[in-house]
Amino acid sequence: MDLAGKHLVLGMTGGIAAYKVCELARRLQDHGATVQVVMTRAAQEFVTSTTMQALSGKPVFTDQWGAEGGRVNNAMPHIDLTREADAIVVAPASAHFLAKTAQGLADDLLSTLVLARSCPLLVAPAMNVEMWNSAATQRNVQTLRGDGVELLGPGVGDQACGETGAGRMLEPSELLEDIIAFFQPKLLQDKRVLITAGPTFEPIDPVRGITNLSSGKMGFALARAAREAGAKVTLVTGPTQLPIPRGVRRLDVRTAREMHDDVMAYVNHAQVFIGVAAVADWHVSNAATSKLKKGGGAPALHFEPNPDILATVAQLPGAPFCVGFAAETDNVVEHAKAKLNSKRVQLVVANRAQDAMGSDASELHLVDAHGVTTLPADDKLAQARRIVAAIAQRLV
Ligand code: C5P
Repeated sequence: MDLAGKHLVLGMTGGIAAYKVCELARRLQDHGATVQVVMTRAAQEFVTSTTMQALSGKPVFTDQWGAEGGRVNNAMPHIDLTREADAIVVAPASAHFLAKTAQGLADDLLSTLVLARSCPLLVAPAMNVEMWNSAATQRNVQTLRGDGVELLGPGVGDQACGETGAGRMLEPSELLEDIIAFFQPKLLQDKRVLITAGPTFEPIDPVRGITNLSSGKMGFALARAAREAGAKVTLVTGPTQLPIPRGVRRLDVRTAREMHDDVMAYVNHAQVFIGVAAVADWHVSNAATSKLKKGGGAPALHFEPNPDILATVAQLPGAPFCVGFAAETDNVVEHAKAKLNSKRVQLVVANRAQDAMGSDASELHLVDAHGVTTLPADDKLAQARRIVAAIAQRLV
């Protein structure tokens, strides 16, 4: 319920992407928002107001003059509709709508309430690639950004007109993620955050290897939470099946040594380093280059230690603020305190390995030089947001 208590005005202008906004209206409510739909005349050429009324559970506003205006207290829908709103989201936002908004024109209900708003405006452009790239649209986009309007996308890809390029409206799931992010406090604005996640995989031969149990969920949740907080996030991840959070740069690696190398390549720019990955402590130094045969008997494997990525980063001159993770089966807090000192990091996040592995919720202990704070069990994104807040508090 990331949008609990939020009231959104969902403005729709004319564009074929309007059909995706039917889904968005539903998803926003699934996350706790109330949604008041306002449609332009062109939007109703693509989706009917009846459809949007059914999906939002509220009468849809389409006209500043008509009888529906009388439903609002003093018949001033252009004022009243947004006074209670936490934001106006316009999706799809046509090139024409962007131009009107950049100019401050107000010739229908949606443009009038956008001009009269006292809340933030988020727009999700949807148009043909040439319209998006045109000098006029780009000029209008610059103006809108300068006026503090939040641009959601557009995405790049196939378009309904048959062309390919920038101008595609973001998918409903992407818009939802961006709208949720918009409402999170910007505790790490413009900070660079480097995160490791997932397991590593150390080959024995081309088809076999040694790995650790790690779903990657906590590291990915932290990447999302840091990006929501305004950070520029790079995520170095071992093999996982998880989708990358929006706006996060992802570097895929397999072995601990590859993870180490990517971390070292990016760490200079980072103000925060969070080592969440379950890194293998050893690699096989005599890994075979062709598949080992069963008939050849059990292989004699030789192991060499992997670099300790977190400890290495923590010892760099001008090291970033370093956060380690400790999944322990017993004496969780004691082990975490020991790790804080042995790795010389500023914060260790500890949990019980049995509870944490692959699960969506776990109790966490934040251990630093001043003591221990326990975060009761909650889902990993909620916990990740608390960890981000704890880091931000310690950075200042
Ligand atoms: O004591 P242990 O090495 O298991 O500590 C775990 C913490 O150290 C985690 O934050 C993990 O990401 C990090 N780590 C690392 N490189 C290693 C081993 C662990 O960055 N080779």
